[in-house]
Amino acid sequence: MFPLERLKFIPTPFYYYDTEVLNQTLQQLKKEADKYGFIVHYALKANANDKILNTIKQYGIGADCVSGNEVKKAIETGFKPEHIVFAGVGKNDDEINYALNNSIFCFNCESLQELEIINELAAAKNKIAHIALRINPNVNANTHKYITTGLEENKFGINLWELEAVTGALKIFKNLKLIGLHFHIGSQITDLGAFKSLCLRINEIQGWFENHKITIENVNVGGGLGVNYHEPDTYLVVDFASYFKLFNDFLELRPDQKVHFELGRAIVAQCGTLISKVLYIKKGVNTNFAILDAGMTELMRPALYQAYHKIENISKDSQQSAISNSQSAMYKYDVVGPICESSDCFGKAVTLPETQRGDIIALRTAGAYGEVMSSAYNLRNRVKAVYSDEL
Ligand code: LLP
Repeated sequence: MFPLERLKFIPTPFYYYDTEVLNQTLQQLKKEADKYGFIVHYALKANANDKILNTIKQYGIGADCVSGNEVKKAIETGFKPEHIVFAGVGKNDDEINYALNNSIFCFNCESLQELEIINELAAAKNKIAHIALRINPNVNANTHKYITTGLEENKFGINLWELEAVTGALKIFKNLKLIGLHFHIGSQITDLGAFKSLCLRINEIQGWFENHKITIENVNVGGGLGVNYHEPDTYLVVDFASYFKLFNDFLELRPDQKVHFELGRAIVAQCGTLISKVLYIKKGVNTNFAILDAGMTELMRPALYQAYHKIENISKDSQQSAISNSQSAMYKYDVVGPICESSDCFGKAVTLPETQRGDIIALRTAGAYGEVMSSAYNLRNRVKAVYSDEL
């Protein structure tokens, strides 16, 4: 599936984006969301690469931003301000002012003090800021602890017991207009049951607002839909049909309410691959190391979350598929990067065909939280990107 004959002449490491996979994913996403009139915002934090953003924008979806620069990027890319939502526990005054100046659709607000500040800044501009309350639903997403966000122990959102105080304050904050509720329970969620629990909790919370005679126009259920890191080729496009159907089945909507989603990973993960070359094979005590020219600076997820990315030796895989019925020997390697950190390891005891200096290694499912989390640590060059439709 990789155009090896072309890729092998491009200096490594780089991200390879398969634009066809991205377009297929977006088509499927639109088709399934449109069935129910659901509104999707793309979470820029997953990948803010210009070409990726331009492609996504063409599908007429909105943008979910978590910093002033993301809001700016979304606007510069051509996402309409009225389709931009802005979340985050720590929005600073400049970021809030920038979003106010551009009249974005909604601030997803995470604390009483934040509401107070947005109200003040909006008043200074004689504007009414549209806000949604990000409510911490205390639902377990059953995912990695670093990417769980919807539990009371997490820093995100307004807790249920604070609702009385917050809605009371909203009556005084004349420059805020409450237009919705916002939830996000975590990322890389593969158990759809967690989303069902979220729907049931939202139904209860909606009851609370109804009892308090507060009308809610928009319900934003966040993102978090997970992808299959182990079998990317079998599950190139996630099962959007079951995901959206679940919300349609379990969310009890009030008349004229709109449902919003903020998906990042599910849209971009499978279209991206980190392509690297083997620099050295080094014998260890119990293992061999395959030392790559890409490291945690290009793809941080394994070092940060012990995240799994499928590792393939695409030089050897292509040779093997050429030799029919090849039963060539497989070996185990610790696949590591060049950075001066022991955690700079992409996988331990990874089974690969015999691997040599110069072989091309693909780290799959790296389109989300890959390039965007890359760094220049060790004064490394910033990682480049190439696109299937430009080769
Ligand atoms: N909405 C909010 C409020 C979020 O915090 C996030 C992700 C999303 C939407 C998009 O979630 P997604 O659909 O992509 O799961 N760096 C980590 C993931 C951090 C996710 C942070 N929030 C990783 O590499 O796994």
